[in-house]
Amino acid sequence: MAKTDPVETTEAQLAVHWKEEDYYYPPVSFIAQANVTDASILERFSEKNFPECYKEYADLLTWYKYWGKTLDTSNPPFWKWFVGGELNACYNCVDRHLPKNRNKTALHFVPEPENEPIQHITYQELWVRVNELAAVLRDFCGLKRGDRVTLHLPMTAELPITMLACARLGIIHSQVFSGFSGQACGERIADSQSRVLITMDAYYRAGKLLDHKQLADIAADKAQSENAAPEKVLVWQRHPGKYSSQTALVTGRDFIVNDLLPQYRGRRVEPEHMLATDPLFLMYTSGSTGRPKACQHSTGGYLAYVAGTSKYIQDIHPEDVYWCMADIGWITGHSYIVYGPLALGASSVVYEGVPTHPDAGRSWRIAEELGVNIFHTSPTAIRALRRAGEDIPARYNYHFKHMTTVGEPIEPEVWRWYYEVVGKKEAVIVDTWWQTENGGFLCSTVPAIAPMKPGSAGPGVPGIYPVIYDDEGKEIPAGAGQAGNICIRNPWPGLMQTIWGDPERMTRQYFERYCKDKKSTDWHDWPYLAGDGAVHAADGYFRILGRIDDVINVAGHRLGTKEIESAALTVPEVAEAAVVPVPDELKGRVPELYVSLKPGFEASPELSAKIAAVIAEQIGPIAKPKHVWIVPDMPKTRSGKIMRRILTAVSTKGNTGDITTLANPDVVEIIRSTVQKGT
Ligand code: WTA
Repeated sequence: MAKTDPVETTEAQLAVHWKEEDYYYPPVSFIAQANVTDASILERFSEKNFPECYKEYADLLTWYKYWGKTLDTSNPPFWKWFVGGELNACYNCVDRHLPKNRNKTALHFVPEPENEPIQHITYQELWVRVNELAAVLRDFCGLKRGDRVTLHLPMTAELPITMLACARLGIIHSQVFSGFSGQACGERIADSQSRVLITMDAYYRAGKLLDHKQLADIAADKAQSENAAPEKVLVWQRHPGKYSSQTALVTGRDFIVNDLLPQYRGRRVEPEHMLATDPLFLMYTSGSTGRPKACQHSTGGYLAYVAGTSKYIQDIHPEDVYWCMADIGWITGHSYIVYGPLALGASSVVYEGVPTHPDAGRSWRIAEELGVNIFHTSPTAIRALRRAGEDIPARYNYHFKHMTTVGEPIEPEVWRWYYEVVGKKEAVIVDTWWQTENGGFLCSTVPAIAPMKPGSAGPGVPGIYPVIYDDEGKEIPAGAGQAGNICIRNPWPGLMQTIWGDPERMTRQYFERYCKDKKSTDWHDWPYLAGDGAVHAADGYFRILGRIDDVINVAGHRLGTKEIESAALTVPEVAEAAVVPVPDELKGRVPELYVSLKPGFEASPELSAKIAAVIAEQIGPIAKPKHVWIVPDMPKTRSGKIMRRILTAVSTKGNTGDITTLANPDVVEIIRSTVQKGT
């Protein structure tokens, strides 16, 4: 960048400055039953006991073979945890609960249509179903340890069942969010070289039965165009025994799982003895390039970390009914619907649909009917529930002891509604900050031993030592009131092992910036850069402000600006595209898109609509821009860089600041009047 170029403004810098909030204290009734009530946990997980402190988490699991070395740092930043240990994630989440809890519900599957009965799947039934499916995967598909399988499954019981069947065999699953398009799924099949795609014919969303199988055909075609066609496509039936899609099956490639299963009735499959360091799954996420990348999570480290944090931060006891509203297609669902709660033997709720469907009371009816006592959701869902019926929770007779907010910063006002109205002032709240890359929570209060502060995640969870660095790598001390880049100084067992197929990117994106010595094998020299801006208050609590990179957090879903821009550029008329995040009352942030056209093309509402539709088709409906503004040119620096900061200021009716150093300052007024006319 030339010296005269104006500096880009990040989301963190745009964030509003909240005042310090008052503390709220955990209810006595919560403390009386909590898993952790003793502040000695902080001492046990303090730096002087690192890394052996994590033995406490690993000991929550059942191991075939105990590990030799807790942490191997010989090849930074590819840390290895519990080296030499052997275990199976499916065994830990299912089999080991049978002797005591065979008849206990493992999964409550709540269909969206309210007249369809809830399924209560016991641990015994889960075990039977997982075994039979594992037999299909092994004997019908020929899948084996280390193979990859892409799942494009909606929020039904079949999703955790399929994940666990894969884990039983050591197959690496890669679940793609069901709201993502067929093309997005196809790219991920190709990138992971998945041999099989597992999908469902249809599912319910907002009152409609969506044809989901049609996306599998698009996905398979897309993968084929990258020479990575899946060998087989397995299709679950949403209504067993009935095919609910309009899309034909492709002979020789597509198979209905429900038709195959009877041939495997009664089959049992021994869990594979996996190394702690063998991968368990891939989870794609958006970063700063056009193509999403897969975070590779380990078996032992990951499972230990999610079991430990589920117990200490989520306060899950085996007798709890736990409902996390996230989608299992995201990391939150993997860690805190499936692996964490099931490792602890709890009952976990899987809800198919929209929380406000058919009305604002739906979520609370589910909570009441199932006796949910731990509730976990995102600020976007909380805002939507609040808007749909501010006083509705009071009409239902449910009682939460514990509630979580995750995925985006929560406004103190919204936090207070969550606490007072949803939680009825009876529940403790944890605001958990973390990322797909991390496997589990990074910052949060330990619920019974620390007060809550609306809008602040809290200090690092036990065993996590966060720090804020400025751009020069200088530490910003707590209480300085200055925002900076939040980093984690130490390795932890939940951190991904690598970026699938691109280890160099792991180093570059997360460690290069603040690495003190690239030759060092001492972890102290390798702080992890999270990619968020944050403020560290004098009391040690971190307030997360938002991304410092090209990622937009839309309703808690992570999207790359480059991904959206790349999709827009596939429209033949489009010459340049720039996405900016703009605040939205419900979704936190939404993307707005600016495009300039190739010569000879004219702006029109139809063209804007076409561009928006192409983005929805290529990525998924959540990526659809709120507006597509067609402008004569982008504001650019003299070195040709598009100034997103100026576009953001126009979109948010803010101050564009000094524009005199732009190569084309005149265009700013033209863009502003286009946007003003349009709104
Ligand atoms: C944001 C979701 C504020 C943050 C688990 C992070 C949050 C990104 C919080 C990761 C929180 C997550 N408060 N912001 N409690 N939790 N974020 O990978 O910007 O889908 O970097 O993981 O969400 O999103 P991801």
